[in-house]
Amino acid sequence: MIPHSKLTFDETDYKAVMEVMRSGYISQGEKVKEFEKKLASYIGVKGGVAASSGTSALHLALIALGIKEGDEVILPTYVCTAPLNAIYYTGAKPVIVDITGDDFNLSIREIKKKLTDRTKAIIVVHMFGHPADMDEIVNIGVPVIEDCAHSIGAGYKKTEYQSIRASEYQKVGSFGALSIFSFYVTKMLASGEGGMVLSNDEKLLSKINDLRDYDKKDDFKVRFNYKMTDIEAALGLNQLKKLPVFIKRRREIARKYDKAFSGSFNTPSNLRESVFYRYVMRLKGDVEIYINELTNRGVECKKPVYKPLHRYFGLLDFPVAERIYKSAISIPIYPALTDGEVNFIIETITTVC
Ligand SMILES: Cc1ncc(COP(=O)(O)O)c(C=O)c1O
Repeated sequence: MIPHSKLTFDETDYKAVMEVMRSGYISQGEKVKEFEKKLASYIGVKGGVAASSGTSALHLALIALGIKEGDEVILPTYVCTAPLNAIYYTGAKPVIVDITGDDFNLSIREIKKKLTDRTKAIIVVHMFGHPADMDEIVNIGVPVIEDCAHSIGAGYKKTEYQSIRASEYQKVGSFGALSIFSFYVTKMLASGEGGMVLSNDEKLLSKINDLRDYDKKDDFKVRFNYKMTDIEAALGLNQLKKLPVFIKRRREIARKYDKAFSGSFNTPSNLRESVFYRYVMRLKGDVEIYINELTNRGVECKKPVYKPLHRYFGLLDFPVAERIYKSAISIPIYPALTDGEVNFIIETITTVC
């Protein structure tokens, strides 16, 4: 069976973890600090604060912006429940918005329709590694938290000049007031569990740094235990070194899929400098039947989003997300896939779908 996701670890990852274990200092320490610095520098922002998960990073980012009961926070419907939970942790009201069919990201027209004077933040998820239209979203004038759980390393084309060389694309995670990342096992860069908040705003970062840990403080306020361990950070650091190679391989596989499928299926397009965390295409007919059949034939495929958020609340009028929910399939894409496996996936999908 070719699994839907698979870790890409090698001896250097095992060695990095063992070094920390042998040092005897395994909780939050120097490795965490180093990971914060290196990720901030890779994304091109001033600093970062590591956290225990992407969800806790989101919670801290919302608190740093002062989000509280009575406030409204906009988020897309086509995403897992993590951002929704983080908004509820603060007591604010989530305002769920439809997406576009092009890149699976928030629809700017729909955001504008749902703005009120209580809108205090927008959570922009760069879905499946595809950068959202950040210029347009930032122009709305509401503080933005970029959710980069899927999109570490993805580039957003900023200027004509920058479009000439991919290495000069400004990376997602550097546009909003704050951005968050997740290092959960299935993500682009895996450390088991873990997250990070990045920002150019040192005041926000210092607030988050204070709230992440409750111990040895002179005053009392409600704080959290949202720390990352040095074991996770060591793994994260080692994976970060390999990230450009991971991204290159994901893009290579995506190009093969584009070539094989674009004549027959609705394949992703207009994705800026996507990192292809997921390769999601749309089929005609009952997608569940295809998913079962492909999995039976040895290619594990999934619905890319378990359930769009509006469905949990019985909300109507999310036509694009509904259409995509019913027709989208996510097929295996990760650096550990061999060329032989990629060919087998292409052959199987061409036969079954
Ligand atoms: C878009 C998005 N944001 C946030 C998260 C939360 O990350 P974590 O699982 O590390 O809490 C996830 C997790 O899958 C996600 O997909």
